[in-house]
Amino acid sequence: MSELRRVLVLNGPNLGRLGSREPDVYGSTSYAGLVKACEQTGAELGFAVEVRETNDEGELVRWLHEAADGKIPVVINPAAFTHYSYALRDAAAQRTAPLIEVHISNPHARESFRHTSVISAIASGTIAGFGVNSYLLALRALSELPE
Ligand code: DQA
Repeated sequence: MSELRRVLVLNGPNLGRLGSREPDVYGSTSYAGLVKACEQTGAELGFAVEVRETNDEGELVRWLHEAADGKIPVVINPAAFTHYSYALRDAAAQRTAPLIEVHISNPHARESFRHTSVISAIASGTIAGFGVNSYLLALRALSELPE
């Protein structure tokens, strides 16, 4: 039996508070629910999905280095770092496998500071505005990309 393909699902600041954080914007699914949904969909697609979250920019950078070194595909919701973290962008630019940017809300339908993403230009693609389903759509998109 061939080994499952690893995928890292990385989450930036405040996403660990999903479920209680602004549910009108981000929905009622908890972070634990997001983890479960990603693991479940990942398993259906033949992925070993590892979901992580941090409020720390440096930790996200280190995880992107780990993904680059291990040729591991990434689904990332950089949260507020999306809009201004050149450090994260530079780390993501080193990717050696597909990287999909996801957002729960649709940042383009919100405040103007959310209309800029410093990540999008180096991502394989972006999925936004479908709630927690954005992550599951990203995993499906990954499964159809060449390794
Ligand atoms: C977000 C959108 C960002 O603008 C915001 O800072 C977040 C979450 C989303 O998933 O909709 O923290 O990335």
